[in-house]
Amino acid sequence: MLSLRTATSCGSLASKRSSAQVLKAFNGLSTSTTIGVRPSSIVVCQIDLTNSRRNFSTTPARKIKTFFPAADTPNVKKTEAAWSHPLYTYEEMNSVKIAHRKAKTWSDWVALIAVRILRKGLDTVSGYRHDHAVSLSKKDPAGAVKKYAMDEKKWMTRNIFLESVAGVPGIVAGVLRHLHSMRRMKRDNGWIETLLEESYNERMHLLTFLKMAEPGWFMRLMVLGAQGVMFNALFMAYLVSPRTCHRFVGYIEEEAVITYTREIADLDAGKLPLWEKTMAPEIAVSYWKMPEGNRTMRDLLLYIRADEAKHREVNHTLGNLDQKNDPNPYVSEYKDPSKPHPTKGIEHLRSTGWEREEVI
Ligand SMILES: [Fe+2]
Ligand SMILES: [Fe+2]
Repeated sequence: MLSLRTATSCGSLASKRSSAQVLKAFNGLSTSTTIGVRPSSIVVCQIDLTNSRRNFSTTPARKIKTFFPAADTPNVKKTEAAWSHPLYTYEEMNSVKIAHRKAKTWSDWVALIAVRILRKGLDTVSGYRHDHAVSLSKKDPAGAVKKYAMDEKKWMTRNIFLESVAGVPGIVAGVLRHLHSMRRMKRDNGWIETLLEESYNERMHLLTFLKMAEPGWFMRLMVLGAQGVMFNALFMAYLVSPRTCHRFVGYIEEEAVITYTREIADLDAGKLPLWEKTMAPEIAVSYWKMPEGNRTMRDLLLYIRADEAKHREVNHTLGNLDQKNDPNPYVSEYKDPSKPHPTKGIEHLRSTGWEREEVI
C-alpha cells in the first residue's frame, strides 16, 4: 500500500472535507499499512520542497489536506520568525556529541530518575527497543531488523510526539518567572526570553516535521494527553523546585541528542532510503537559514540535533545557578569577552552545561 508519488503537491488541496476523508480513508487501511504505534496514528507525507512534491504517502494524494497553509492576506508579504535563529556552521554541528552530566545532588537524581522512567515508558508504548535490537543483531542480524528496525515512519512518529511535548517546559518556566517578576515587583534578570525562545524553537521542530507527516486521531489524542499531564506536572514542579526542572530538561535533551544522532547514523548506514531523497521543507530552510546545496533531510537533522544540544547546555547551566538572583548568562555581557562564555550560538557548546563559578 505504500506508494511512491511524485506528481501531486502535498500542500495543494486544503479543505475541511479532505480532512475528514483522510481520517476515513486511513482508518480503512489494514494494520500493516499504518504508521507508528497504532493504526491511524500518522500519515507520512514526505515533501521535496525543491519541487513541492510528495515522495510517498499511505493516503491518496487528493485526500491529503494542507497543513497550516499560507493565510490569504492581501497586504502582508511575509511573516518572519519572532526569534531569529543563530547561524550554525557545519563544523559546529558535526562536533555535537552524545553526553551525560553525572547526577551529583538529590535534586539531580530526582530529575534523572524521572527522565529514565519517562523514556522507558515511551519506548515500551512505541515499541522502540534500541538496546534489544543491538544485542539481537549480534546473534541474528536479520531477525533484529525484522523485529526492531526503525524506518522513516517510526522515526517520524517518535519525532512528532517528542517535539510536541518538548515545547512545554520552556513556556511553563517562562510563564511562571514572568508572573513571579510581576507579583514580587522584581527583575527576572533575563531568564524569561531564553525560556520562551526554547519553547519557540521546539515548536519550529514540530512544525517542520508536520510539513512531512500528518498525524492521525490516535497521535493527536496522545499529544493532547501528554501535553495536559506535562503542563500541569511541570507547573507544580517548577513552583517547588525550578532547579530540578532545569536539570530534568537537561537530561531530556541528552536523550534528544541520542535520538537524532541515531537517526543520522541510520540515514548514513542506508537504512532510511526515503529520507536520502527528502529535502528540508521551506519553513526549515528559512528558519535555520540553510545554505543552498545543504538542504537535505540529513542537514535538517543536523540542525535539529544541534538545537537539542544547545537546550541540553542551557538547561544544565540554568540548573547550576541561583534561581532567584543570578542573571541569565545567555544574554549577559562579559567583562572579558575574549574568554569563552555562554552565547546563543553553539561556538562554545558545553554538553554538560557551564558551572556557576565560570559564568557568574
Ligand atoms: Fe526539539
Ligand atoms: Fe530540545
